[in-house]
Amino acid sequence: MKKLTVPQLVARSQKGEKLTMLTAYDATFGRIADEAGVDMVLVGDSLGQVVQGHENTIPVELGDVIYHTRCVTRAVRSALVVADLPFMSYQASVSQALLASGRALKEGMCEAVKLEGGMETVETVRAIARTGIPVMAHLGLKPQTIHKMGGYRIHGRTASEAEEIITEAKAMEDAGAFSIVLEGVAAETAKEITGAVKIPTIGIGSGPHCSGQVLVIYDLMGLNPEFKPTFLKTYMDGHSLVTKAIKDYINEVKEGKFPTDAHSFHRK
Ligand code: KIV
Repeated sequence: MKKLTVPQLVARSQKGEKLTMLTAYDATFGRIADEAGVDMVLVGDSLGQVVQGHENTIPVELGDVIYHTRCVTRAVRSALVVADLPFMSYQASVSQALLASGRALKEGMCEAVKLEGGMETVETVRAIARTGIPVMAHLGLKPQTIHKMGGYRIHGRTASEAEEIITEAKAMEDAGAFSIVLEGVAAETAKEITGAVKIPTIGIGSGPHCSGQVLVIYDLMGLNPEFKPTFLKTYMDGHSLVTKAIKDYINEVKEGKFPTDAHSFHRK
């Protein structure tokens, strides 16, 4: 299978095909998502929560993202791999952003980077795109600004907020972003944005009218039963399934049922 390229991805979207993106942080899930046929694999800074156990994405370091991106890119054959630039790896200056993006491609071996931010990041997006690095913008709910927002909330519910995000989306397209993640955006606003730009919008918690959708893979698998936001659909009860498998294993070892002779090696 050949790697999906950015122009192919954008062309598919412009023909009306819905795009799919899932996060992955290691080779095992990267391979499964890829073999299942996902278009893009995002090595999200959500790894701060679901892999590292932090409260939010703020503590994630560029080195963490590069490490996990390398794990994923060793296994992914077809999907486009996007590395998420973590907090303070690109905000300080355009040159910091260029160096971080370059490291993601050179060391992480991914094909694109993503960064959060509105008008304040337009020149950064422009510079990264000009360098030849595909860049995905991220508008609406931007988890790296959690302390400024005072918590996670839906954006673009009022006319003025909607106008602001539409302006940002157009500016991102003009700056050369190849796609835009819309997180936690009112469905009507996400629909308007999707109609206002030619590049694909990838929604999470932003309704059905985006050009594509993204989910955190562990959320899709239902691994955390306490995480039940309105936007999430779980496609399996992963927590129960994994817990049952582990309990079965514990019981079988305790009862002497595993390993059996079939799982053993013998002298010659
Ligand atoms: O970090 C992440 O996983 C993300 C997606 C939820 C879009 O940014």
